[in-house]
Order: sequence, then C-alpha cells, then structure tokens
Amino acid sequence: MKKVLVTGGLGFIGSHTVVELQNEGFEVVIIDDLSNSSIDVLNGIVSITNQKPIFEKLDLKDKSSVELFFRKHNDIAGVIHFAANKAVGESVNKPLLYYENNLNTLIYLLNEILGLETSSFIFSSSCTVYGQADEMPITENAPIKPAESPYGNTKQIGEEIIRDTCKVNLDLNAIALRYFNPIGAHASSKIGELPIGVPQNLVPYITQTAAGLRSYLSVFGDDYPTPDGTCIRDYIHVVDLAKAHVFALQRLMNGRQDSNFETFNIGTGVGSSVLEVIKSFERVSGKSLNYKMTARREGDIVSAYADTKKANSILGWKSQLTLDDAMLSAWNWEKHIRNL
Ligand code: UFG
Repeated sequence: MKKVLVTGGLGFIGSHTVVELQNEGFEVVIIDDLSNSSIDVLNGIVSITNQKPIFEKLDLKDKSSVELFFRKHNDIAGVIHFAANKAVGESVNKPLLYYENNLNTLIYLLNEILGLETSSFIFSSSCTVYGQADEMPITENAPIKPAESPYGNTKQIGEEIIRDTCKVNLDLNAIALRYFNPIGAHASSKIGELPIGVPQNLVPYITQTAAGLRSYLSVFGDDYPTPDGTCIRDYIHVVDLAKAHVFALQRLMNGRQDSNFETFNIGTGVGSSVLEVIKSFERVSGKSLNYKMTARREGDIVSAYADTKKANSILGWKSQLTLDDAMLSAWNWEKHIRNL
C-alpha cells in the first residue's frame, strides 16, 4: 500500500480526496491544523470508507515540526497539498497572512519532499490564475493574468515556485490542478463543505438560505454581457474533483509525465449562470429560493469555464456528475448538518 500525505485533509476538497484515495487502496496520512476544519470530519471519512487515516494535527508554518514529521514518515510516496487560506476578500485585507500561510508552507514541504526516495507532488491551484480570460473555454495555455487578490497571487507564485524547483530537481514530479468552482458534497452526506460564518460562495449561501439561516440570496449583478445577465462559472462536483487527484497521482507514480511539471484544468467544460444554479437548486430540492437582484460584487469576472480536453485525453479523467447532482448533494448535506 502506497502512503500518501494529504495536507489540509480535513477541509472541503481534502476530505473528499482522502475518501477517493482510500477507495483506490492508498494508505493516507492527514496533516491539518484544524484552523478552518473540524476533527469530526475524520469520523465522517471513517464512516464512509471503514478505514482510519493516520492524522497529525500540525501547523505547516512550523518548519521544525514539518522536518520531524518527514523523519517519522520517510516512506511517503506522494503528497497532495491542499492546506492553504482561501478567502479572496480576507486576503486583500491580510496580504502578509496569505503570503506566509500559503507560500512558506509550500516551500517547507517541497524542501522535505526533495529528501524523499520518490517524490510525487500535487498542488491545489485555481482558475483564478487566468483572471478574465479573453477566450472561452479556457485552455491551460491561456495567459496568466495579473492576480486580482493576494490569494490569487499565492496560487500563481505557488505554481512558479514548483516550476522552478522541478527545473533543477528532475526527480521531483509535480502536477498543478487548476480547479474551477468546486461545489456539492459526498452522496452519503457524511462529509461536505463547512463554511465558517457567512458564506462567501454561491452554493453554501443558497443552501443556508433555503435552510432558513439567511433571509435571501443576493444575486450580484444581472447586467453582465451574458444571456441572462448573471455571471457564468464552471461548477464542478467535489467528488469528481477529488477523483481527478487520484488520476493525477497515478500518472505521477507510474512515470507517465511528458515533463516533470504539468498543469491541468479541472472543470466540467460547461458554464452555468447564477440564475441557472438557482433553478437547478429549486428543481432538485422542490423548494423555491428567496433571492434578489443586487449590485455587482467588486472583483467578479464575467465568465469562466474550462476547456477540459487536456485533462480528458492526457490525465484520462472526465467529470461524470451533473450540476443537478451537485446541488442535490449540497442540499442533502445542508439538511444533514442542520437536522432538517
Ligand atoms: N454570487 C452571488 N451571490 C452570492 C455569492 C456569489 O450572486 O452570495 C455569484 C458571484 O457573483 C459569482 C458566482 O456567484 O458570479 C460564483 O461566486 P463564488 O463566490 O461562489 O465563486 P467565485 O467564482 O467568485 O470564486 C471562485 C473560488 C475562489 C477563486 C475565484 C477566482 O471560490 O477560490 O473563483 O475567480 F479565487
């Protein structure tokens, strides 16, 4: 059994990826500092897979703890690095926190990985690196635009750090997965998204509104140059996204890379407007959602959806679940955590 380290393994995408790794026979070690996650997620994972991952509560900013961890687990065959701060608005107000948390930790990890016998590394990147792309769908060759937030900048710089490190360390094999908009929850409703405070993202805001925690959803702008006037995104089911990590890891471990640093878009290839997401929610939940058209949100791009040909043909991965599947699972999860 190959041992895989998952940093941030109790977070939203991390926990779903741990489940898929265990389903595929990997032994999983989780590092998480619990700053934006709960230890209960571990029980959720165990109740789905009947396997308990190794768990270490550890702050990756603590360099000596990271060194000690790798001394103890010197048989790690792959690392999937999710642990990072991810709130776009917060990053604007606290840039140094974001640069320290998202970049120092990456550097400490890579330092240790270079000392391992084999090193396969997967980095959580984001479609935010493209900004407002000039052409849709967005291919991996689309230009990287100046970042609109320190958070987005940490993803761009993170990719550069890995690319530079791969250039001079040919034994390091890395893949950056550029996620579009991850939504949904595991079909069992045992793990899902747990936003702290008022959700900033569309889907948890919708489900919390329907659950009665929020009075209405604000639709940020209906005067965009799109068919219905609302912004378009590529919403990818978190279980499909989790599976993409397993495909990427197998590509690395089987030595199938074309170069030792590769990037892949992970999305569905389909763009959906905010109003289409609301309609999907209403369809699968049978509830009507209270929403109002309000002003545009600063910093929002008009449209972003992925060209997934590279992931489909080279990684061999393709999303399988629909927007309706994702909205239903998000709603079932919300009902589960609110005891509805
Ligand atoms: N939206 C609303 N009302 C809300 C929340 C969102 O109308 O209450 C709209 C937004 O304006 C946008 C769409 O729903 O059109 C999606 O918004 P999200 O906040 O869910 O997602 P974003 O596309 O803005 O953010 C995502 C990731 C970030 C990443 C960013 C880069 O969540 O991590 O893309 O573009 F940085």
